Amino acid sequence: MSDLQPPAALQARLNRLLPKIRLLATPLPAVPELRLWLLDKLVDERLDQDVANALMEAPPYWALCWASGQVLAARLLAEPWRVRGRHVLDVGPGSGVVAIAAALAGAASVTACDLDADALAACAANAALNGVAVRLSDDLEACLPGCDLITAADILYDRDNLPLLDRFRTAAKPVLLADSRIADLRPPGYRRLGEWPATTWPDLGESGEFNRVRVFETTLV
Ligand SMILES: C[S@@+](CC[C@H](N)C(=O)[O-])C[C@H]1O[C@@H](n2cnc3c(N)ncnc32)[C@H](O)[C@@H]1O
Repeated sequence: MSDLQPPAALQARLNRLLPKIRLLATPLPAVPELRLWLLDKLVDERLDQDVANALMEAPPYWALCWASGQVLAARLLAEPWRVRGRHVLDVGPGSGVVAIAAALAGAASVTACDLDADALAACAANAALNGVAVRLSDDLEACLPGCDLITAADILYDRDNLPLLDRFRTAAKPVLLADSRIADLRPPGYRRLGEWPATTWPDLGESGEFNRVRVFETTLV
């Protein structure tokens, strides 16, 4: 059990949605090299209707580490040649798990680009927790020209993000994509590298179909 105190500003962001739940510096089951500020419990707190509504409105994705983020982070740490010396752009970083792994694996620079200001605050806090530097942005188009590798993990829970897969390719950047949400995903121009088991953490108790992560890379750049 960690005796570290969560950053007050990040804790306050969580407590706007979940008043009683604390963030805990949590080692990841699939990536024990990393710790992240994550929810310390999920199901014990009885949610009153206002809290439940607020959660549905703006889920704190950044306070969980998704199955795909863990698998892609583990791949980068096992195969650091994929990122070493590169300027990596992680799209939809949430907690920052993939961005942090890329930095630990020797990327020349890492930018985490998320639409959610709370996620960017989590990326900053988690980068500090793991002793690495990660740049932050909420502007994908501004980030694309300066990167030479794009990573993205579990952004396809929102099907509106599917066109991003083509957008990444037309930006002529190599892409590493991890997904646990669309079982029959076959994106044109991407080839499947493999499938790995992982569980979103803390464990949401999701159906087993979401505990299998497919990783893809682009074939044409
Ligand atoms: C399910 S979480 C996954 C987080 C992390 N990649 C992981 O695997 O743990 C998805 C994240 O993507 C962000 N996101 C969704 N659509 C996005 C977009 N079009 N551009 C940037 N971020 C996006 C959300 O705000 C959220 O932080």
